[in-house]
Amino acid sequence: MAGVSVQAFRRQGRRFGAGLVCSEMVSCAGLSHGNERTLGYLRIAADEHPLAVQIFGSEPEVMAEAARMVEDAGADLVDINFGCPVRKVTKTGAGATLLDEPDRACRIVAAVAEAVDVPISVKMRRGLEKCSRQCLAIGPKLVEAGAATLTLHPRSARQMYTGEADHSLTAELVELVDVPVVASGDIVSLAKAQSVLATTGAEAVMVGRAAQGNPWALRQIMGVDEEPSREEVAAELILFIRETARELGEHRATGFLKKFYGWYLGRGRFPRPFKQELTQLASLAEVEQRLLAAAPGARFVLERLEDDLPQGDEILLDLPISVYGGG
Ligand SMILES: Cc1cc2nc3c(=O)[nH]c(=O)nc-3n(C[C@H](O)[C@H](O)[C@H](O)COP(=O)(O)O)c2cc1C
Repeated sequence: MAGVSVQAFRRQGRRFGAGLVCSEMVSCAGLSHGNERTLGYLRIAADEHPLAVQIFGSEPEVMAEAARMVEDAGADLVDINFGCPVRKVTKTGAGATLLDEPDRACRIVAAVAEAVDVPISVKMRRGLEKCSRQCLAIGPKLVEAGAATLTLHPRSARQMYTGEADHSLTAELVELVDVPVVASGDIVSLAKAQSVLATTGAEAVMVGRAAQGNPWALRQIMGVDEEPSREEVAAELILFIRETARELGEHRATGFLKKFYGWYLGRGRFPRPFKQELTQLASLAEVEQRLLAAAPGARFVLERLEDDLPQGDEILLDLPISVYGGG
């Protein structure tokens, strides 16, 4: 998820039981131009594997070049974005618009599959417009072009995130292709995951928004249904803050993290004004202090968490040191 799936989020997802995690979408043009911030998305840690890195773009050759960089960075899978509905992306001919350009979409998949040895997956929406069934027309073609797996988020691009994901389309797609299909959209609980798996024949489910500030949702979907204590919540948030500051640098992390406070502290875990208070604080050190004051026992949970983390990142890419934001 763009603006969410930083390395700290992915590592946390793996710790809480996700079988595969995915990067934010990465611009193939940014990679091709050697844009330092874009290259930073290719920073991969040892405890993230298996990891997919998602790329977006509209030019087959540039996408192929980006895929090679992603493979060199150590990704286990290259995912191609044919689902992004955001205008900034679609106006460049990338993301969901490619669903209406099957020839170009297939040329992208073929070029990427040819360029790398790791498997290629495609993530798509149902189509551009409401009630579109375009994913069913294009899905088999993408497989023929080289996609080893398809992930379907069965909302239209126009829908953005409103309404419901129509997983009857996922079931239809499963019937049409002989590669594994992953179901994305509204997987928020074990019951929902089980019902989508049973009614669609999908091989796996993908969890998005439900895991934002709530890794315990992943544990619940894996069958362990325990609400976290306030200490656990505060400790996970502090760890997330520390890792994100290391990854993005203090300045970028400060703005980036604000939305996470509500996600972590909501759900009746902490009083409402508390989250507001955290977003007003000037430094991340102050946020940590406030969290520790509100849940003093978090200190011990945090120590345990940090002790259990693998020591040192496995950085596989030879990038300028500034990319690592001091980490
Ligand atoms: C903030 C946000 C960012 C997202 N960014 C991406 C992205 O970069 N690539 C992608 O394939 N899907 C992206 N998605 C879509 C999700 O992967 C997922 O398909 C969608 O949110 C439905 O699943 P959910 O109901 O579990 O959230 C994003 C969703 C959200 C909410």
